Amino acid sequence: MPNQINSLYEYLEAYKKSTENPEEFWGNIAESFYWRKKWDKVLEWNFDEPNIQWFINGKLNITENIFERNLADFGNQTAIIWESNSPDEPSQHISYNELFKKVTQFANVLKNQGAKKGDRIAIYMPMVPEAVVAMLACARIGAIHSVVFGGFSAQSLSDRIIDAEANILITADGAYRGAKTISLKNIADEALEKCPSIQKCIVLERTKENITMKKERDIWWHEALATAQIECKAEEMDSEDMLFILYTSGSTGKPKGVVHTIAGYMIYTEYTFKNVFQYHKNDIYFCTADVGWITGHSYIAYAPLLASGTLLMYEGVPNYPHAGRFWEIIDKHKVTHFYTAPTAIRALMATGLEHVKPYQLDTLKVLGTVGEPINAEAWHWYHAHIGKGKCPIVDTWWQTETGGMMISPLAGITPTKPTYATLPLPGVQLMIVDTEGKELKGNGVEGNLCIKFPFPSMLRTTYGDHERCKQTYFSTYKGLYFTGDGVKRDEDGYYRILGRVDDVINVSGHRLGTAEVENAINEHPLVNESAVVGYPHDIKGQGIYAFVVLEKDGQTHEKDAMKASIISTVNKIIGAIAKPDKILLCSGLPKTRSGKIMRRILRKIAEGDISNLGDITTLLNPEIVEEIKKEAGF
Ligand code: WT7
Repeated sequence: MPNQINSLYEYLEAYKKSTENPEEFWGNIAESFYWRKKWDKVLEWNFDEPNIQWFINGKLNITENIFERNLADFGNQTAIIWESNSPDEPSQHISYNELFKKVTQFANVLKNQGAKKGDRIAIYMPMVPEAVVAMLACARIGAIHSVVFGGFSAQSLSDRIIDAEANILITADGAYRGAKTISLKNIADEALEKCPSIQKCIVLERTKENITMKKERDIWWHEALATAQIECKAEEMDSEDMLFILYTSGSTGKPKGVVHTIAGYMIYTEYTFKNVFQYHKNDIYFCTADVGWITGHSYIAYAPLLASGTLLMYEGVPNYPHAGRFWEIIDKHKVTHFYTAPTAIRALMATGLEHVKPYQLDTLKVLGTVGEPINAEAWHWYHAHIGKGKCPIVDTWWQTETGGMMISPLAGITPTKPTYATLPLPGVQLMIVDTEGKELKGNGVEGNLCIKFPFPSMLRTTYGDHERCKQTYFSTYKGLYFTGDGVKRDEDGYYRILGRVDDVINVSGHRLGTAEVENAINEHPLVNESAVVGYPHDIKGQGIYAFVVLEKDGQTHEKDAMKASIISTVNKIIGAIAKPDKILLCSGLPKTRSGKIMRRILRKIAEGDISNLGDITTLLNPEIVEEIKKEAGF
């Protein structure tokens, strides 16, 4: 296979080349892709504006690189194996030839509904092959997709549609998730009341639940398909045209639309997929992420298909109808590569080995994790009981903004160390700095993780607000991209991610801004103000701890009822993923004389460690700390 690293020596060579001559390195890799017209120049950049451009003036379509480039060799191979939420529903096998037809025909549906190159199309779908078809159909016609996770609320959906000014929404009647169904279309209807930009809503039939179709606006997927032609020529796109927008949380209350462009994203995600997983022909790769997150974009919808792989896509959740469901699927489909999140591993570990024992798991070759730091206990359990001691674990560190994996072992090549993401991938130039921005050189250092040179799949902007991109990522340390993560480089030069150093909490591998959760809590009519911090949680990695001050009227209500009502407000405004695990009602929050909430104190209390709260005498209201401590059970 082209661009394949086969040994530690080759990795070191590739890394060296990629830093000494990045343009030649990535230019060579880009040669194996299908271009309508090759680029004039590989890279132009500065991190001040920022302005980042790769493969300048290249012309291509990413779907031609998935399909036309490879169909002669891989047309009959299975592209997607789909496994239903219910073990009783038959699985589907979709070949590359079949997937190609589905994509081009649905691309024609989009065109028939008025979609054009450059339009933004929102996707709010269950984990069914049609979600991938919808994304690739957008790419086929040059429309920019914005996928919204199916667990988000009506308000989160409408906020994202409004920000992107999307003109089409693709959704389904409902989604199966374990024992529950989510009424996607009903939620979408509520969202669309606030979205005048949406002209058409295309609805896939999945759960057959009762929904209403709005005349003129709503159209069934299968009915639209019946009148659509199959062939659809790919739109010619520029390397730097937008491929998609994906919203993610940050330190402020409002999620930002991270923008990825076509060529760099395509090349980097395929390259990392092949090398990190050491994926070979006939391997079967199972990634448990949802298409609503970046992992589902890069390592479900795009990279495995660009690499002509066989992808297993699962509709359901890890513990339904039983806690052995993942392992059952691995045996059933002879999965060789399995990629999941530490939170899922911890949750399944907690259910006991009796749920693993009935399965062989002997087809597995490589295990992966992503989304949050993996603790040593979970790493060892995964290695011993799922990998049977013979599968390397790739702990892949990356972000929505980086589009592809940044720090990771290459499976079976890079010696691993539990809890370490190990070494940077080719093209990734890291720098550790202290809080003043001074570089911490050498090994055995700990600080803030930055990237000092562009790589092809890095974000280009935040949609509609370039200044925000600059402020968030390129202004903390001049000339550097700041990741928001703390990191340790140990004596061997290995990297271990320590977690976020900003106001972002990572709940079950999902990123949430504390301000975003606070804003949602504050929407409750009886809430006066709130402060949210993360705390260590056995399963979720981090849990959400909310300190809430009620209005006078709220203080007369029963406490548990108030807490339940606050949780339902958060559910409604963001979605269930953001609901606080703990709520502490108090009469005030510790504040400095300038009115700033002292989160450091709240964080300590939430972590259950009050031995050293630091100096609280400078507080405006030191007495409140005693009240909160007491309420927290100290
Ligand atoms: C944040 C990015 C990348 C896809 C899923 C999350 C944390 C991610 C790891 C890892 C330790 C990790 C970081 C990062 N993170 N992978 N292997 N080890 N931490 O994407 O929502 O953009 O979140 O997730 O804190 O900054 P995301």
